[in-house]
Amino acid sequence: MTRTYVITGSASGIGLATRRYLEHQGHTVIGVDRDHAEVTADLASSGGVDEMLGQVSRLSQGRIDSVIANAGVSGATELTTDVNFFGAVATLRALQPLLARSHAPRAVVTGSAAAIYDVDQALLAELLTMNRDGAHARVRELVAGGSGHLVYSTSKRAIIQWVRDNAATAAWAGEGIALNAIAPGIVETPMFAGSASSPADVARMLEIAPMPLNGIIPAEGVAPLLSWLASEENRHLCGQTIFVDGGTETHRRPDAIFAAPPL
Ligand code: NAI
Repeated sequence: MTRTYVITGSASGIGLATRRYLEHQGHTVIGVDRDHAEVTADLASSGGVDEMLGQVSRLSQGRIDSVIANAGVSGATELTTDVNFFGAVATLRALQPLLARSHAPRAVVTGSAAAIYDVDQALLAELLTMNRDGAHARVRELVAGGSGHLVYSTSKRAIIQWVRDNAATAAWAGEGIALNAIAPGIVETPMFAGSASSPADVARMLEIAPMPLNGIIPAEGVAPLLSWLASEENRHLCGQTIFVDGGTETHRRPDAIFAAPPL
């Protein structure tokens, strides 16, 4: 049976590859992006999310089957907290009532394997308490102190934590909505190209984030996983983060799955 998917960040990279993958299977995709999409909206602002909700509601007649909250940016600025965390949360919350009308609703967030690296605990706390002004102030402090690189990893740690905190609640699991995340390693997209301009840059990135299984991932390599997590077949995954990273996570923290204190 064909389904209706909303994909944010659908105009480029992972979002575009996923859109093509799903459309090839005959599904309907409502793409959301700043440009070149059925729904053009700036998800960094609450006005933009309202605009997105209005347009998606109109195009879908008020019922969608899946949301893939994938839009993201990687700079060391407030925009990164606004798109990667506040925008993703606002998108999911806004579209939850439309999802709840599906007989098999699913939601997936594109996190990042960057979330397992250093994060800033103060920024993480501002994000998880939904304090946008506090988060912006902390981003400015980090940048001024030469720690701007922590903004992206912290935004991704926060959205993964948010998924974990919310997936089993009444609003999500209680409505039959499977809410999960993926954590890609390095994926060949315009975002990646913007941060690695030379082979030396790429070699440095792979030293920090090794990908022993098949190396850097083409955007098309992520699409089937996002697609399955957002499919009717995924009935029981709840609040999980699936690392699609060629081995970065297992290599960097081999004991992590057993690190929690015993129950
Ligand atoms: P990309 O730059 O090719 O695509 C991102 C899309 O998000 C763009 O089309 C952009 O216009 C859209 N977007 C950004 N800000 C927006 C806003 N305010 N409102 C609406 N749309 C907005 O990047 P890529 O690599 O495809 O990234 C997709 C997701 O994957 C992001 O969340 C990124 O953080 C994540 N990711 C990417 C990795 C990589 O190595 N490329 C690795 C791990 C995670």
